[in-house]
Amino acid sequence: MSFFNNFHLLAKPYQGTDQKPDKHYSILPTVLKLVGDPRGKAVLDVACGSGFFSFPIAAMGATRVIGIDNSEQQLEIARCNSVANTEFHLCDIFDGELPSADIAVIPFAANYSKDLRMLAELFARLFRCLNQDGHAVFVMDLPGERGGLPYKRMRSFGAVKWWAQGPYDGAMFCNHLFDGRGKEICSLWAYYYSPLTIQFALQDAGFRDIRWHKPVVSDEGLRTLGQEFWQGYQDNCELGYITAEK
Ligand SMILES: C[S@@+](CC[C@H](N)C(=O)[O-])C[C@H]1O[C@@H](n2cnc3c(N)ncnc32)[C@H](O)[C@@H]1O
Repeated sequence: MSFFNNFHLLAKPYQGTDQKPDKHYSILPTVLKLVGDPRGKAVLDVACGSGFFSFPIAAMGATRVIGIDNSEQQLEIARCNSVANTEFHLCDIFDGELPSADIAVIPFAANYSKDLRMLAELFARLFRCLNQDGHAVFVMDLPGERGGLPYKRMRSFGAVKWWAQGPYDGAMFCNHLFDGRGKEICSLWAYYYSPLTIQFALQDAGFRDIRWHKPVVSDEGLRTLGQEFWQGYQDNCELGYITAEK
């Protein structure tokens, strides 16, 4: 068993996650809601991958959407779909220079911080790259914090998380991603941080007005899969949606 995520090899398979019920019908609309109106603003998509969040934000009228990632393969896919207000750059989020922006979105990236010091430093770097009055939108994995649904139900939404250690801050877990029909797309290793640890680390980095949000499910999601399918999802999705202001 390897604890290493090879995002270069995963670039193509990972795109299969874009149609997962949770990602398509809940994670995306929730992030877009928390981004707010990006018109006239520069938005930084941190660890953008193939641009799953970058393109809808660009379509909402952001002046610039700057996607950064440390996988050329992921960026290549993003650049193929580039539009006038998107740009994609190779950058390591932990030690590269982060472009300045009015809004930063950090979906599924901060959990790659290998220890608390790395998490704190990432938050501090994000705080510094934001323009005055900017805001950040985080999506953090929170395995076990809310998960009270059976394995099969979690799998049908698109993600099942397994502990390799812990739970404690910095403990490793594996995120198994499923296509909604029960077929596994890929699995990714990451590091857990508790909500309290995240809250304090954001405060220490200088963020204020830190808020935790419930996910939404889009009308399209409710229509396509039905109310019954989504029963219990919002209370058990094992994701933390956080907004924080500079
Ligand atoms: C789980 S994927 C999320 C991609 C995209 N945000 C999404 O949700 O579709 C994680 C992404 O983080 C990128 N990544 C991992 N470690 C990174 C690092 N140190 N610096 C920049 N990008 C990184 C990977 O290449 C990958 O594209």
